[in-house]
Amino acid sequence: MTHEIPQTMGQQLGRRSWAEPWKVKMVEPLRMISREDRATALRDAGYNTFLLRSDDVYIDLLTDSGTSAMSDRQWAGMMLGDEAYAGSRNFYHLEEAVRTHYGYRHVLPTHQGRGAEHLISQTLIKAGDHIPGNMYFTTTRLHQELAGGTFHDVIVAEAHDPESLAPFKGDVDVAKLEALIGQIGADRIPYVSLAGTVNMAGGQPVSMANVRALRELTARNGIRLLLDATRMAENAFFIQEREPGYADRSIAEILFEFCSYTDGAWMSAKKDNLVNIGGWLAVNDDAVYEELRNLVVVYEGLHTYGGMSGRDMEALAIGIEESVSDDHIRARIGQVRYLGELLVDWGVPIVLPVGGHAVFLDARRFYPHLPQDAFPAQTLAAELYLDSGVRSMERGIASAGRDPATGDHIRPRLELTRLTIPRRVYTQAHMDVVAESVKAVHDARERATGLAMVYEPRYLRFFQARFEPLSA
Ligand code: F0G
Repeated sequence: MTHEIPQTMGQQLGRRSWAEPWKVKMVEPLRMISREDRATALRDAGYNTFLLRSDDVYIDLLTDSGTSAMSDRQWAGMMLGDEAYAGSRNFYHLEEAVRTHYGYRHVLPTHQGRGAEHLISQTLIKAGDHIPGNMYFTTTRLHQELAGGTFHDVIVAEAHDPESLAPFKGDVDVAKLEALIGQIGADRIPYVSLAGTVNMAGGQPVSMANVRALRELTARNGIRLLLDATRMAENAFFIQEREPGYADRSIAEILFEFCSYTDGAWMSAKKDNLVNIGGWLAVNDDAVYEELRNLVVVYEGLHTYGGMSGRDMEALAIGIEESVSDDHIRARIGQVRYLGELLVDWGVPIVLPVGGHAVFLDARRFYPHLPQDAFPAQTLAAELYLDSGVRSMERGIASAGRDPATGDHIRPRLELTRLTIPRRVYTQAHMDVVAESVKAVHDARERATGLAMVYEPRYLRFFQARFEPLSA
C-alpha cells in the first residue's frame, strides 16, 4: 500500500512556504453563534454588516482599520505615555518617525484619517474648486465636497475592470489629468489627491513612474500633489515586486522616495501604521502648515496631540517603524494573497491581481442574475455572515452614495464585497475557513434574491443604511 505524504500549501504551489515573522503572546477567544442566531442578528442589523455586534461575529474581516494587533514593543510604549496637554515627548517621537520614514517637514497628529482629511480640505479647497484623484474614497471625497469641491476620477481605465491583470491599476491616467487641467484651469485645482494601494479599486498600487510623472505635470502647472498615505507602505511592496529597478530596494527606501515626489500627506494610522486609533497630517509648505496648525486646535486638539493621548502617539511612533519592515509587509500581503489564490483556484470571481489589504469578491460575476439596484455586494456580505459568521463589507452601489447634483444613485462599475485582513491577527487556518465559506456561498449563488434599501442616512449611507430581503 502506498502511503501518501501530505504536502504543505507551499509544496502544492511549487514553492517554499513563508511564515509570519512573529509568534502569538496573548490570545482572544473566538466564538461562533448558531446559524439560527446569526439569522436573527442579521435581521436585527438590517442586513448591514456595520450594524452587527462584534460578539456575534466569528472571523471579522469588516476592515483592516484599527483592527491590527500591536506588538509587545508597542504595548511597552503605551506605558511610556507622557500625558501632558502640551509638548508631550511622545509627540516628538511621532514627529521624528514621520519625518524619518515619510520625509515631510511639518507633522500634526489627528484623531484618525478623516480628521486629517477634514483639515486639509477646509484649508486648501474653496467653493467651486475641483479635485482630481485616483478613484474616490468615501470619507476623502465627502470632505472635499463639504469644503465646496467637486471630485474627478482620473484613475487609469483598467482600475474599473476587475479582470485586468495590469500591475499598477492604481495609477493616474496622466493624459486624462492633463486634459482636465486644460479644461478647468490650474487655478481651480488646489491639489491632486493621490492614494497608495487604491482601496475602492481593490487595493491596487501606484507605480513610482506614475508619481514621478505626476510630480512633473503638477509642478509645471503650479498644482500641489497630496498623498493619502494610509496604505502606502503596502504600495511600496508592489513597487519592489513589480517595477524595474526596485527589487533590491527596501520598503523603507521605496516609501521615502515615493513621498519625496509629493507635497504632503494625510494618514489613517489605523491601517499601515499598526495602531487601533490615530492619524496624522504632514506637509512641507510653511504657510499651509501655519494654517493647519491653527485649525487643528479648533477641531482636534492642541497641535502636539491632535486628539490622541500620549500613549497612543508612542504606540504610533513605534508602529511606523515596524510598518516599514520588509518581513512584516511580505507576510502581510502574502496572507492576503494566500486567501485570494485559494478562491481563484475554486473559480470564485475576485478582483485581480490580488491587492494589498483585502480580497475583493466581484459581486457582479458572483450574482450575474441580480441587478445592481438589488445591492449584489451587500447581499453577498449578508449571505457570507449567515453561512459562517464571517463579516465582510460592501464596496459597491451602497458605498458610492448619490450624485450631489442629480440625487440619483451613483452606479460604480465595481460592485465588490471586501474581505479585509487585519494585520498580525488571523492565521492561515482562519483564511482556510473563510475561503471554504465563500465557496459554500458561491455554490448556493443561484438562490440569492437581493436586497432593498429601507433606511438611508444622508452622509456615508453605507455605514448605517438598513435593508430588507427582496422576495424571489
Ligand atoms: N483614506 C483611506 C484610503 C481609507 O481607507 C480610510 C479609511 C480613510 C482615508 C479614512 O480614515 O477611517 O481613520 O478616518 N478606511 C476604512 C476602511 C474605514 O475600512 O477602509 P479613518
